[in-house]
Amino acid sequence: MRPFFAILLSALFAFIASAAPAPAATPVRPPSGTPKINKVAVDDPDVDTEGSGCRAGTVGVAFATDNSALTLIFDDFAAGVGPNSGTLRKRAFCRVNVTMSSPGWAFDVSSVDFRSYVKIAKGVEASIVSRWKWIDGKGVDMKGKGNVKKVLTGPFEDDFLLHKDGELSDSDQSVCSKASAMFQLSLSVTLTPSSSSQSGIVAGDSADVGVGELLNLSWRKC
Ligand SMILES: *[C@@H]1O[C@H](CO)[C@@H](O)[C@H](O)[C@H]1NC(C)=O
Ligand SMILES: *[C@@H]1O[C@H](CO)[C@@H](O)[C@H](O)[C@H]1NC(C)=O
Repeated sequence: MRPFFAILLSALFAFIASAAPAPAATPVRPPSGTPKINKVAVDDPDVDTEGSGCRAGTVGVAFATDNSALTLIFDDFAAGVGPNSGTLRKRAFCRVNVTMSSPGWAFDVSSVDFRSYVKIAKGVEASIVSRWKWIDGKGVDMKGKGNVKKVLTGPFEDDFLLHKDGELSDSDQSVCSKASAMFQLSLSVTLTPSSSSQSGIVAGDSADVGVGELLNLSWRKC
């Protein structure tokens, strides 16, 4: 599954990398292969007749080869309303716990790029929210978190890209405390039509790639 997601991810976000300006100084990053994803656990606490979640095995999480980014692909994540929405529901929610190891290194999320496909008719609103944070071994939220959110109003039909900066730690000590923490990211999409005949969908992009997020990482040696 890794290589499959890796190919999707590199295709999906290649244009972002090529558009990024050359960094002023060479960023400090762990050598390729040092940070590893040990476990990806997903849960969908809000699943009901109005909402759907994500299932184990449908979320791909991977570090970029040069460790500049962490990418998440939600392979089976979509919300839909209206006559042609089939089995889709108006809300989709997915929460991902990522356990990783990066001996001697820790990171902050310096920015996030969210990407999906959105097609909503006039009168339909699509709300997209993603949040991330770190949770320590005792289950307590740590400092440093972030979110990206947007409400789109129909008519809208396009691949949708959203960029947002993260919250950087103030000291080496504070970023290094995250080295052994669990990283958690949630994604939710809600469609609100003003009448039941209006259609809308939020899903993977028009190239049929899953909904994706690319987190740009800022590393520290600990
Ligand atoms: C994810 O982490 C939260 C907070 O520690 C926990 O409540 C939840 O059960 C975890 N979910 C999975 C699927 O492990
Ligand atoms: C990633 O972050 C670095 C510095 O933190 C910045 O120079 C670069 O433009 C960012 N890249 C993207 C794709 O946001």
